[in-house]
Parts: sequence; structure tokens; C-alpha cells
Amino acid sequence: MKIRYLLLLSALGSLPARAQTAAPAADPYRPVYHFAPPRNWLNDANGLVFSNGVYHLFYQHNPLSAAPGHLAWGHATSPDLLRWTNLPVALSEYRNPDGSNTMIFSGSAVVDANNDSGLFAPGQTDGLVAFYTGHVEKNGATLAQHQNLAFSPDQGLSWTRYAGNPVLDIGSKEFRDPKVFWYAPQRKWVMACVKADRQQIYLYQSANLRDWQFMSRWGRAGDTVKEWECPDLFELPVPGGGTKWMLLISSGNPTEQFRGQQYFLGQFDGQQFTPDQPYEEPAYLDFGKDYFAAVTFNNAPANRRLLVGWTNDWAYARDIPTGDAWRGSFAVPRELSLRATAAGLVLVQQPLAELGTLGKEAVSLKNQSLKAGAADYELPFRGESYDLELTLEPGKAQTLTLNLLQSEAERTTLRYDVARQLLTLDRRESGRVDFHPLFALTTETARVPLQNGQLRLRLLVDKSVVEVFAQDGETTLTDLVFPRQHQGRITLQAAGGPARIARLSLRDLSQPLAP
Ligand code: FRU
Repeated sequence: MKIRYLLLLSALGSLPARAQTAAPAADPYRPVYHFAPPRNWLNDANGLVFSNGVYHLFYQHNPLSAAPGHLAWGHATSPDLLRWTNLPVALSEYRNPDGSNTMIFSGSAVVDANNDSGLFAPGQTDGLVAFYTGHVEKNGATLAQHQNLAFSPDQGLSWTRYAGNPVLDIGSKEFRDPKVFWYAPQRKWVMACVKADRQQIYLYQSANLRDWQFMSRWGRAGDTVKEWECPDLFELPVPGGGTKWMLLISSGNPTEQFRGQQYFLGQFDGQQFTPDQPYEEPAYLDFGKDYFAAVTFNNAPANRRLLVGWTNDWAYARDIPTGDAWRGSFAVPRELSLRATAAGLVLVQQPLAELGTLGKEAVSLKNQSLKAGAADYELPFRGESYDLELTLEPGKAQTLTLNLLQSEAERTTLRYDVARQLLTLDRRESGRVDFHPLFALTTETARVPLQNGQLRLRLLVDKSVVEVFAQDGETTLTDLVFPRQHQGRITLQAAGGPARIARLSLRDLSQPLAP
């Protein structure tokens, strides 16, 4: 009787939420609503382009194993950037007549709407052209990095490498990651590449996507500790009128051991990029350890600027304990904008608005007081995949602590130091941290001033991915975590004085999305 009752309960999935303890799934770290490859290795997002109502996501992919190597472009498509259909590998490594091997490194894709390339049938308006770095290797030694193109007449299902490749070769082994975009004022194509070891971007122009002419170079500014990779250059509207150009570079992180991203705001006149300021103090995009190689979509509808970042760090990317089936994931696409604040223009990153249509509300509360020194306040929800929005009023508290993915001996902690206005993400006790010495070496901290006495947080938690958006996207921190105990509790505490949760709402996103 008892057994039957239990079976019935579990069949209906109707255990009360508080009593639910997520059973360790067979694949406990695979995110539900973040993109991960169907199998094997993934790193940078490549070739992000919107065409015929479909978002194309290509990505650095090893089709043969869950470790880096044999780099190719994997491919998935989506109508809404949330539900993905996996497609066959788009571009694969190839062997050259001299016995060397060319891997398909990072790059971009465009819709050649006017058949400027002449590579499509006359009148075709939706040909896709992909630009990738050919990384040429022989016996483990890099021989060259140059820019190449491939074209697809059928929305990325089949690709032909251009016979005149490489289209751009400067005789370097550190020249990569072409981002091509249409520059409307001068009706031409522009390509930004990095000279990685010199921390510079090189800009080129073309009328036909095949012949490229050098325009300018810029760099060695901001953070120059690491190589520069994966450039992106695009325009964002300024509130109240005008635009700024934003240059994104994957390279720097406030914590030197790790990689991250920085951005520069300035102008681009069709020839060269000029920053607004010298950037002696680098501007970082994300303050976590695991947000890298992010680039934006070409051709996105309604001029949206949508950014996709790899949630990992090369320091330990190949060692993360997700198993041999797959390794690597992307953050939820972020919409970029500029906001005018008392402190000047601020870059804002908001999770894709459409995410708000998924899942069901599991917790909603207002005016919950947090007494200092009292028992931890625990949310009436347990889980590992959710979207949590909360507005905290620290009041007289000195510290606020929010524990996520908490079990007896584990927690991923977000701490706010009220006096110093510092938000810290701490994964040192998050679960498996010992697979690499750098993984839990430090905590990640960003300065986040209160606004009207409030700290607004949005947390996208998804098994092994934690994305934190503070003050409506003005600061973000992204980290991987690998809990072992899977109790998925969420608790809050105030210390030094009472505080208040002004508002909180949590949407459960644990149900896989139907394609
Ligand atoms: C950035 C990067 C790129 C390169 C690719 C190779 O993560 O190093 O510069 O094209 O990865 O996978």
C-alpha cells in the first residue's frame, strides 16, 4: 500500500515542493535552459546570424570528443534563442596537400542579401557567408592563422569552402577571429580581426566579401595581460539621441589568472575605431570567472544587439567535471543597451526578454523581513534550474547573504557588503571544486552601489551555470558550479541589523523546453 502510494505520488510528480530533494540526475550538470552541445566539446559561439526568421548558432566544437581538438563549427538553430534544434556539423577540419591540417577556428557569418560575393545564384537574397580562421597545424606546431570564407545557399545545411581561400593572410600565427558586418553609411563590408599577441584589432573593408583591404589598427589599451581574442564592433543607440560604437574584446578579467572580456566605447567612422577615453582603467563586461568569447548576432530583428558568451574559462575548461558525454555551455543570450545614469553612460546586459515567458511561478512574496541573527530565511522551493528576481533593502544590515544550490555541506554564496557596496560571488563551497587548483582559488567581486536603498538581483541558475544580473543588468557575474548534494535550497540572512526582501519572484525552469 505504502509503496503503491509512493509510486503514485512520484508518477504524478506531486511531492510538495518543500519536501522535494532533486534526485541526482544521470547527467547532473547539464543545464536545462542554457544551450549545451548534444555531445562532445564546445567553446566559443561562432557565426551568429539571423536569417529567414531563424537564429543560427554555430560554435567551436570537437565532433570526436569532449576535450578541445579537431575544431569544427557545430550548428543549431532556433526561432526564439531558447528552443534549439541541433543540426549536423557545418564546417569540419581538413587536410592540406602538404600534410598539414586546418582546423576551423572562431569567426562570424553574414546574410549576403545582394549577392555581393557573386557566390550565389543570380537573385538569391538569403545566401549565408561564413568567415572562419583557418588554424593550420603540422605535428602539433602552428604554421599559420588566416581568414577564410565558406558559403551556403541553403541556410547553413551545406557549405562550400571558397576556392580562393585564404581571403586574408598576413603571414602570422596569431591572427584570428574575423567578425564581419555590413557598414551601411558607406555600403561596404567591414572585418575586425585580432592580432592576438599584440593586443590589437585590425580592420579591413570589402565590396564583395572576397577581397579585403586594410583600413586601420587599434589596441594595446585597457587590459593587456592576456592575448586579445574574438573582437566584435557594433553600434548602440544612446538614450536621448545619437549612437556609440562598442568594441568587445575577449582578454581581460579583474582577476589576472582568468580570462574575461572588456569593452571600449567610442566611435567608428567606417575606417577606424576611436575610443572615448584612454581606458587606463579597463572596463570589464562580466565580473565572474566564466564568461568568455562573447559575440553578438548579425542581422538580428528590430536592431536588437544580442550577445552569446561561453560559460567557461580556458584555465580549467577541459577539466570541468561534466563527464565524457559533453563539455561546455552558453549563457542565456543577453540584450545589450546603454543607460544614462548619474555616473554617465552605463552598459546594460539583460537576459533575453523571452526567457520571462518560460516556466511557471513557484514563489512570489513581498515585504519579508530578515532579522539579524535570526534563523536563516528559506524560500519554499528547492531546485537547480530557475529564474529568481528579488529586490533587497539592506536597511541597517551590514551584510546580506544569499545561498543558492545549498545542501548540508555546500552552497554557492552571493554576499553583499553594505558599507563597501561590494557584491561577491563565492563558489569555494559550491560542491566539486578540486578538479583544478584555480577553480575555487578566489571569489569574484564587483562594486554595486545601492539604488534608492535597494539592491535588485536577477539570478539565472541552471544546474552548473549561475548568472547574476545586478541593478537591472548594470553589473553581471557568471560562474560555473558543480554541486554534489543536489538539495537545491535557497536561504537568506542579514547580519549586523535587520533587512527586508521588498519583492521576490521565482520561476521554476526545470522542465525541458519542447522544441
Ligand atoms: C577563444 C579562442 C579563439 C580561437 C578559438 C579556438 O576562446 O582561443 O581565439 O579562434 O578559441 O577554439
